[in-house]
Amino acid sequence: MSTGRATRRERDRDRRVADATAVHIRWMIRRDMPDVMQTERASFEYSWTEDDFLRCLRQRNCIGMVAERGDSVIGFMIYELHRTRLHLLNFAVHPSARRTGIGAMMVDKLIYKLCSHRRQKISLAVREGNVVAQVFFRGHGFKAAKVLRNYYEDSGEDAYQMEYKPAELDWAEYGGPPVNRIAMYEGN
Ligand SMILES: CC(C)(COP(=O)(O)OP(=O)(O)OC[C@H]1O[C@@H](n2cnc3c(N)ncnc32)[C@H](O)[C@@H]1OP(=O)(O)O)[C@@H](O)C(=O)NCCC(=O)NCCS
Repeated sequence: MSTGRATRRERDRDRRVADATAVHIRWMIRRDMPDVMQTERASFEYSWTEDDFLRCLRQRNCIGMVAERGDSVIGFMIYELHRTRLHLLNFAVHPSARRTGIGAMMVDKLIYKLCSHRRQKISLAVREGNVVAQVFFRGHGFKAAKVLRNYYEDSGEDAYQMEYKPAELDWAEYGGPPVNRIAMYEGN
C-alpha cells in the first residue's frame, strides 16, 4: 500500500531530474568552445569562427557567459563593458532549446548586470532580416534606436540598433539610478 510519501530513492531521482533540467548562467570557459561553436553555426548564416570568439574574449572589457543545462551548454552571450553601457556582440540559443525561456534568462542576467553595475543602457545591432531576434528583444523592453546602413561587411545588410534603458522600477532594486556626482557640484 502506498503511504503517499516519496521514498528516499524517489526524492533522489526527482532531485537528479531537477538538476538536469535546471539552467545555470555562468562565465564562459575555453572548454565550452565546442558547444558554443555548435550553437553559433546552427544559429547564423554568417557565423563567427572560433578565432573570432577567442580574439574578442581576450579583450579586457569583453565578457562571455553561457547557459548550461546538465552537462550541455545550450546558449551563450558575449558583451562588452563600456563606461555607461553594455554592448551585446553575440547572443544565441541552440535550436533544440529555443522557446523554453533560455534567451529570456540570459537577457534577465544582462539587465541584472546593467543595473547592479549602475550603467545606463544595453545596446546591440540586429540584422534587418532577423525578425525573430527583433521580436524577442522588443519583448524584453528593447527599442529600435536607429538604422545602421550597410552595417554588415558579409552581406551589406542594414542593422537596427536596439537599446534597453532601465525603468525606475528596475533601478529601485539597486538603490536608484546612477548619480553623476561631478555634475552635482558643477555651478556651485
Ligand atoms: C532570439 C533567440 C536568442 C531567442 O531565444 P529563446 O531561448 O528561444 O527565447 P525565449 O524562449 O526566451 O523566448 C522568449 C520570447 O521571444 C519571442 N520569440 C522567441 N522566438 C520566437 C520565434 N521563433 N518567433 C516569434 N517569437 C519568438 C516570443 O515572444 C517568446 O515568448 P513565447 O515563447 O512565450 O512566445 C533565439 O531564437 C536564437 O538563438 N536565434 C538565433 C540567434 C540570434 O538571432 N541571435 C540574436 C542576434 S542579435
